[in-house]
Amino acid sequence: MKFFIDTANMDEIKEAHSWGIVAGVTTNPSLVAKENISFHDRLKEITSLVDGSVSAEVISTEAEGMIKEGLELAKIAPNITIKVPMTPDGLRATAAFAKQGIKTNVTLIFSANQALLAARAGAAYVSPFLGRLDDIGHDGMDLINTISDIFTIHEIDTEIIAASIRHPQHVTSAALNGAHIATCPIKVLKQLFHHPLTDAGIEAFLNDWNKQK
Ligand code: E4P
Repeated sequence: MKFFIDTANMDEIKEAHSWGIVAGVTTNPSLVAKENISFHDRLKEITSLVDGSVSAEVISTEAEGMIKEGLELAKIAPNITIKVPMTPDGLRATAAFAKQGIKTNVTLIFSANQALLAARAGAAYVSPFLGRLDDIGHDGMDLINTISDIFTIHEIDTEIIAASIRHPQHVTSAALNGAHIATCPIKVLKQLFHHPLTDAGIEAFLNDWNKQK
């Protein structure tokens, strides 16, 4: 499983990129709104740093508008992935982008059937939202597992992005359940580093080293 970072904040992207683990970036309108920036300029900045997929979400709700917006966004850099919502219009746009060789990430996936539809429309990625399913008392991880099984049985090469990740256990379980990618906020990426025995081990090694001086 690869890591994407889920943010439009440049400092966070630069920090995570410096660790050598960032295979891509996902943004959404809420994340972009927090930044108070020009979306196009920020996408230029991100794509000049990150080689992998950078998801940029369209705002239109109708296919024609999504296609128009997506074509503009795709001009920014070859690694822009157009993020479209899981609606009939979203899939119409997905199919149109696929014909032109433009990658899409179909977002707001909450059922296996939605993931299957998106894949068949030509999505490069599907984004099931774990945390938001857990929030309403469903099992987000069960959805990842089911989508992964269906894609394996039917030899579908659409990649599964585990999204709406809230804590480190989501990351481990997403990897075990077949997600290809976990898109994580920087807070969760930072949490992944830590283990009390690592900290204690470093302290003990340094103490022993200093004693012999
Ligand atoms: C990423 O593609 C999603 O937009 C994001 O993970 C949603 O996360 P949230 O449910 O914490 O807003």
